[in-house]
Order: sequence, then structure tokens, then C-alpha cells
Amino acid sequence: MDPKGMIQSLYSALEATPDNVPLRLHLAHVLEEAGQGPDALREYGEVVARAPQEGAARLGRGRVLLALGRPEEAIPDLRAAVAAGGKTGEAHLCLARAYLRVGEAGLARHEYEQARAADPSLLDADLAALASGEGPRKVPVAAPAAPPDPDEDERYADDHGSPVPPVAGISPERPKITFADVGGLEGLKKTVRMQIIAPLERPELFAQYRKRVGGGILLYGPPGCGKTYLARATAGESKATFFAVGLHDVMDMWMGNSEKNVHQVFEAARGAAPAILFIDEVDALGGSRREMLHHYRTLVDAFLSEMDGVASSNERILVVGATNTPWHVDPAFRRPGRFDRSVFVPPPDDAAREAILRIHLAGRPTAAMDLRPLSKRTDGYSGADLREVIERAAEGILEEALDGKPERPIGLKDIEKSLREVKASTGEWLETARSYATYSNQAGVYTEILEYLSKKKR
Ligand SMILES: Nc1ncnc2c1ncn2[C@@H]1O[C@H](COP(=O)(O)OP(=O)(O)OP(=O)(O)O)[C@@H](O)[C@H]1O
Ligand SMILES: [Mg+2]
Repeated sequence: MDPKGMIQSLYSALEATPDNVPLRLHLAHVLEEAGQGPDALREYGEVVARAPQEGAARLGRGRVLLALGRPEEAIPDLRAAVAAGGKTGEAHLCLARAYLRVGEAGLARHEYEQARAADPSLLDADLAALASGEGPRKVPVAAPAAPPDPDEDERYADDHGSPVPPVAGISPERPKITFADVGGLEGLKKTVRMQIIAPLERPELFAQYRKRVGGGILLYGPPGCGKTYLARATAGESKATFFAVGLHDVMDMWMGNSEKNVHQVFEAARGAAPAILFIDEVDALGGSRREMLHHYRTLVDAFLSEMDGVASSNERILVVGATNTPWHVDPAFRRPGRFDRSVFVPPPDDAAREAILRIHLAGRPTAAMDLRPLSKRTDGYSGADLREVIERAAEGILEEALDGKPERPIGLKDIEKSLREVKASTGEWLETARSYATYSNQAGVYTEILEYLSKKKR
């Protein structure tokens, strides 16, 4: 897969939660694997600054420094990684390599032995030659002692030993917004009614016609056009409980007992049925599994088997995923019973833009005005862009009022002014989408995008 998209998603997820250590750690690792050593170094450094005891970050930074040809600097990190426990086999191995580079053959040999003791599958030709070399083996006393190896299955070991917060504690919501708060997207609302709401409300009817309930729907489309908003409104509309699981929550799970935690989230949703389990940024979860970190792959596999309903039935819960890079979603996610239906959430059309402007003006003092000309002029604006336009217009007036000018309602001129400041954001996405829809080997998945684009041209 294209790691650039994954990296992009991780950066934007981090913008929202800069202190999410597991997430940053994952980003650092992805950068490292993508060969972006200096960037990886910076992110590992950020993690170390926030969580100095984080063995995985010390190991990562040491490994990158070593790869960048800076073994002296790598050594303190690698020693800290060994001391922190966790994946010590690899830490010992890296440390052995670092010692070898700086000419500390004895230390290198000792560390190599420790590495092999922790994980017999670790091999290094140069170090092996050194270890089997003739001459008395000098085992240095100064070398750090190997930490006790807990009996714990290493795959699930929590690297920094802190308790993992209860994941089922992801607070369920009862969204207040309904379809009335969603501007436009009429066709989509109909689809959602048929495919999401009806099966949740009337499972017996669907059973009668042997139409399978469950599975998932993937909402995809440009940023800011209402995927998350629509998912929330769907829950509000159907009075379903809404569980929003973001990438950052998922990454927290990854640090701990991923299988168990994923199971708990699904169980919580099943217990609160009818429920919508909303997974944002599915693309970041669904990158190529082959390239993933082991922990991470375990999480994804756990997630997929929950979706498959292997252990428990998923009737009356619906998994809704969202992504703005559907081309990065692992095809394994699209198999029957998983995200087997994809729904394109397009940029709002004329009527939808007018409705969205109205929705966001509602509740603010507004002069009487015809919004139609505005909706014509805002082709390409996303729902989020339009909200921003209104916010800025309101802000301008607020500033005036704070300056002592008389209070007045939002008028056309104010909106026109902020239209000049806020630019339409969906064009770039549509261009990218066009090339994927035209050239990708999964092109069939994106017919909706192509239809949209050809309709738009006319
Ligand atoms: N159809 C709409 N009607 C009313 N408001 C909308 C609509 N679409 C978007 N908005 C406004 O824009 C905001 C952002 O939309 P939302 O978060 O759902 O976008 P998204 O498609 O999930 O984007 P991303 O891909 O960046 O996650 C919403 O909170 C809402 O205020
Ligand atoms: Mg969203």
C-alpha cells in the first residue's frame, strides 16, 4: 500500500490528540519503515520527551540512530530500552550492533548472547561470527543485566507497564441531531434509512425475507462533507446508541490487550442494541496487513473477526466506517459481512449548500436574505467550509460589537466577505479520487465517484 496516505492520516489524527503516545509511536514506526529516518527520529524523540519510560520509543530511536550511522548516540537509548523490558531481544540485538560499530567487541558479543537468549530466532551474521570467534570470551561486568522475562505473552505485553484504560469505557452517546440537521444528501438519507435504520428497527421483517442484517457500511468522500455528521445523525434518527471509536482509541487498545478490548467494545455495543459502532479513519486501520506491526495486525484481525460475528451475533448493531481515502482501505475489509456496502458521501449540491447555510445560520441573528445566489457561488465548498463561512461572518460582527459598534444581524455582505477568505476544499480530493477511480485495480469500487464526476461536468 501507499504509506504516504497512512502517514498523512496519522499526522492528522495526532493533530487532534498530540499527547497520544501510542499513536505517535505508531507514526514513528511507520515513518521508520517508510525509510524516513529523520522524521521517525523526531517522532520517537517526541514520545521519549512525553514518556521517558517508553521502552519501545527508546528502542525505536536507537534503531533509527543506528541505521543513520550514529551508533554512539544510539547506545544510551538502546540501554534504556533493554532496561525498560518489553521486546528485549531486539533491544539487545541492536545494542550488540551498536557496540560492534564503536569497536566494543566484548560488549557486542555479550549483548548478542542476551539477544539470542531472549529470542533464539534473532540472527546477525557479523555478530554470530564474532560470538563463535576464538579467544577467551570476555563477559563485561558493566553490561546491564537482562530484566526478568515475565511469563506474559509478549504480543500483548504493555510496554510501559501502565494499566490500560477500560476500552468499553468509550462513552456511548445518544446523539441529539437527526436527519433534519443534515443539509441535502436526500438520496443518501434514503439509502441510510433502507440499509441502516430499517434493519435496526425492524429486524424481524428483514429476517422474514431472509435479508441478512449486520455487516457494515463504509462511508467515503471528501473531508468535511458530513460522513461523521451523517453517522451521528443516523444514530439520532434511529434512536440508536452511538459508539464512536476513533483511530486514537484503537491505538490505545493496541498498546494493551487488543483482542480483549476490541471484543469489549463490540460487546458493549451489542449490549446497548440497537447501536451504531462508528469507526472513523478506517483507512488507517486497514492498511496492508502484511506491512503492519505485529501488535497492530493482531488488533486488526481481532476487529475483523468481531465484524464477522465469529463469537457473537451482530444483529441489531451496525458498524459504520468512514474514510476519505477509500483506496487505502484493505480489501479484506470489504468482504461480505464486513464493510460490504460502500456509500459515497459527495460534496453538497446547490440545494444542499443552501440547506447547510440555513442550518448553520439557524439560532444566530440573521437578516432576511435569499440564500440561493450564495449556494450557486459556493460550488465545491464542503459542509465544513460552509460552516466556517458562517462562523467567520458571525465572528466579524461580534468583533464589531465588542468594539462598541451597534449589534446587528448577519447579512449577505458579511457572508460574502468571509466567502472570499474561505476557499472551497473538495476539488483536490475529487481530482485524486478521479485518478483512483479511473486507474486503480479496484476501480469497480468507485463507480459512484465516476458517476458523480461525469454528472458534474454536464
Ligand atoms: N450535510 C451537512 N449538513 C449540515 N452540516 C454539515 C453537513 N456536512 C458537513 N457539515 C458540517 O461540517 C462539519 C464537518 O463534517 P464531518 O465531520 O461530518 O465531515 P467528514 O466527512 O466526517 O470529514 P472528515 O473526512 O474530515 O472526517 C459537521 O460537523 C457539520 O457542522
Ligand atoms: Mg469525519
